[in-house]
Amino acid sequence: MNIELLNKNISDISADVTVLLLSSDDLELHADKELIKLSGFKAEQDSKLFLHEKRILLCGVETKESDDIRSASVIAIKALKSSNYTTAKVSIIDNDSLAGLVEGIVLGGYEYNEYKSKPKEIALSNIFLAVNDLDAKFIGKTFNDSMIIAKATCFTRDIVNQAPQELNPQTMVTLAEKLASDNSLGCNILQENDLEKEKMGSMLAVGRASIHGSALIHLSYKPANPKKVISLVGKGLTYDSGGLSLKPATSMVTMKMDKAGACAVLGIIKAVSELKLDIEVHAFIGAVENMIGGNAYKPDDVLVSRSGTTIEVRNTDAEGRLVLADVLDYAQDTVSADKIFDFATLTGACMVALGQYTTGLMGHSNKIKHDILRAGSNSGELVGSLPFNKHLKKLLKSEIADISNTASKPYGGAITAGLFLDRFVREENKEKWMHFDIAGSAYTESPWDCNGYGGTGAGVRMVTNYLQNIK
Ligand code: BES
Ligand code: ZN
Ligand code: ZN
Repeated sequence: MNIELLNKNISDISADVTVLLLSSDDLELHADKELIKLSGFKAEQDSKLFLHEKRILLCGVETKESDDIRSASVIAIKALKSSNYTTAKVSIIDNDSLAGLVEGIVLGGYEYNEYKSKPKEIALSNIFLAVNDLDAKFIGKTFNDSMIIAKATCFTRDIVNQAPQELNPQTMVTLAEKLASDNSLGCNILQENDLEKEKMGSMLAVGRASIHGSALIHLSYKPANPKKVISLVGKGLTYDSGGLSLKPATSMVTMKMDKAGACAVLGIIKAVSELKLDIEVHAFIGAVENMIGGNAYKPDDVLVSRSGTTIEVRNTDAEGRLVLADVLDYAQDTVSADKIFDFATLTGACMVALGQYTTGLMGHSNKIKHDILRAGSNSGELVGSLPFNKHLKKLLKSEIADISNTASKPYGGAITAGLFLDRFVREENKEKWMHFDIAGSAYTESPWDCNGYGGTGAGVRMVTNYLQNIK
């Protein structure tokens, strides 16, 4: 499906159907208001009315703000995709809500059909966005940028949705290499023998029982005169069976999504390079599969991480933090960054704390937290801050090693996981680091907002927005 911006008035565009995003006030001014009211349609947010005889699709909005426009556009695109119209047109209201419109159409219309032998046929081929009397140049840039970000989000969703027999640590390497060559990014891959040379005993232990070798992927986008340097670190568990601390059967289903942190990082570097932002971005991914077998790592093992910190394994299902410990350490040695952000489907506890729609944000810098919370609200992603404290930190104490990979008490599990990572962030980088727990927000089995079944692309819109506005 093609989305096209036309520098015309909507009445001068020919299309099968006109989409109207209207509020209850707009309804009062509509020429067919009596007919519309007869149907019971009140232009409430997310309500819709298809007037086929008039070739009009009415979608209600509470306000003309981006969040409401996005949500109504999702309703519109779903209705259009299940109709037999081939073209549709809609007016752009203003520059501020344009991103919402584009996201609603692109993300709300997204479907993952790779494994369907007969994907549903969609008649809709073109949606025209009418610029009307608005500043065409300004609108054009917003449109292009919004399309880049929405498509990068779909790219992330596509990888999250790929089945684990297909997407393993080694095929993730191939995929990253392709992205690097398509977008002219630097690319350095560390295979298991390199990881051994780097003494990444923590990351290597997690992947030991997999038939697929673990890999560390480093992609870089280096514009000529970067304002800032950012390192992004992603948890890339292409499958998390839990290891010997095996997950129950029902909890294991969906664990292909445990690579969503890595996929988000790939989506962000894709968006930033296509937007040509003057920010140097490094993406570091720990691509690993957590399996069982005779050579699997075990509860009671003591691992020596790259930093030299020893880790007592008490649960092999708390594997993401073990991978990130070494990747964070490597990232800090490799690049001197102004900011270090990590993304991980790290804990079920994050969903208990914040619900499954919200990304958990942890770190020491109130300034970055504030800026990320704003980027979340600008971009329509939900994010909430979870506070560290010294009492929770004590729960990671090990009697036998420097730190335990699980806390001794069950409460505050998202925070204790964040505090485990904090142990691997060097003193000079504490104020530069943020941890994003996307365990709930990265994947859904029931549609919400502009997300359908599967990967949501959590992190991509929010962090790209943050990077667009960074001073
Ligand atoms: N990948 C999971 C976390 C997760 C759970 C993500 C559900 C998305 C949905 C992670 O590796 C894990 O298993 N964490 C454990 C930690 C525990 C053993 C301390 C958890 O959350 O139960
Ligand atoms: Zn796990
Ligand atoms: Zn995991």
